[in-house]
Amino acid sequence: MSHGGEPMPMESRAAGPLRGMAEVPGDKSVSHRALILGALSIGETRILGLLEGEDVLDTGRAMRAFGARVERLADGEWQVQGVGVGGFLEPEDVIDCGNSGTGVRLIMGAMATSDLTAVFTGDASLRGRPMGRVIDPLALFGAQARGRRGGRLPLALTGAANPVPVTYTTPMPSAQVKSAVLLAGLNAPGETVVIEREQTRDHTERMLAGFGATVAVETSTEGRVITLTGQPELQGRTISVPRDPSSAAFPVAAALIVEGSDITVPGIGLNPTRAGLYDTLVEMGARIDFANRREEGGEPMADLRVRFSELTGIEVPPERAVSMIDEYPILAALAALADGPTVMRGIRELRVKECDRIDAMARGLEACGIRIEEGTDYLIVHGRGPRGVAGGTTVSSRLDHRIAMSFLCLGLAAQAPIRVDDGAPIATSFPGFVALMRRLGAEITA
Ligand code: S3P
Repeated sequence: MSHGGEPMPMESRAAGPLRGMAEVPGDKSVSHRALILGALSIGETRILGLLEGEDVLDTGRAMRAFGARVERLADGEWQVQGVGVGGFLEPEDVIDCGNSGTGVRLIMGAMATSDLTAVFTGDASLRGRPMGRVIDPLALFGAQARGRRGGRLPLALTGAANPVPVTYTTPMPSAQVKSAVLLAGLNAPGETVVIEREQTRDHTERMLAGFGATVAVETSTEGRVITLTGQPELQGRTISVPRDPSSAAFPVAAALIVEGSDITVPGIGLNPTRAGLYDTLVEMGARIDFANRREEGGEPMADLRVRFSELTGIEVPPERAVSMIDEYPILAALAALADGPTVMRGIRELRVKECDRIDAMARGLEACGIRIEEGTDYLIVHGRGPRGVAGGTTVSSRLDHRIAMSFLCLGLAAQAPIRVDDGAPIATSFPGFVALMRRLGAEITA
């Protein structure tokens, strides 16, 4: 749904230490994929721990519009009765993907090789984001798109009636583009091949294999080569969604910067294609213990214990960017309280997320009294140590959940409160964020 409602200002301020258990919701990336692959399967898929955030609920509604039965059985427990590969029906109305780039791009991929037309839209943030990156490869299958200038939404996509398989090298590191091509390849005959120069999150490959598709992954001189055999019969299954490492990053960061804090964050997905932030934090001096490492449903996970730590600025290796791409906003906030500069390079993709995240963090941190250097693909935050952030300002969240949560966390360790002009977008990925943080002892008012 489009989030055109009233802005919801929020404010956070320094208070006592954070203590207790932070049970964060299910992984957003895995949740979208579970609904979409469930809808493309034969029989029943049962999803446990689904993220019930706006982004994922929009994808669930979309899957209904394409003909699947999607039902909520209990908290986080959902059932999908799929239509099978090639079984999508033509939606009767516009598909509104709200704030979700992942939702719209994956769904466009999933329908691009079916003989039907769907019209996609989203909120003001999503309507500003580039769709050419998925429309271009989907055209190679034979799909046709008509959108606004620059391939922006609203956009009508007519799937290929006689799709051909495709070999495609992704021009930018993007799991959404890779996944859109693989999902389109499901209903094309023969082998669809995606080559990525840098490995992005691999939930789609893992889950496709789990549903019974044949997916081969090799490394060549060109990069990572993923080959999918088209027109499989996917079989419904049960999926346990790990807790989201990107959502966990917020309480983890808050505990690191609020003196005396000691929290536990159980069951966090630590797929190596997602866990870059945690390596970075440890290098900065964070006291994080990883206990009870295990694998569930093909995804590695662990329980985290996080304690207040004095952090030191570092240079984040640019090749790590892809495994922590969503975590730069919260890292930039933490970096403001570290000793010395934190240098973040190779982050051009942040310019086309829910907002321009380099600009949003730079302007917000400057308003909080922090010196910043920035360029097209880098951001340097000159940290002022544990008590060095002035705060006492209002920051614009720009319809971006992660910008809102990053500044609310920073406010917990700033000298004066930090106000965010609109915290409503937090519900897209982390409903219950404010309640969870308050239970830990944070002072956040909405
Ligand atoms: C996602 C991929 C990433 C990430 C997004 C979720 C996914 O986007 O930023 O939050 O689930 O595939 P890109 O593919 O644009 O890098």
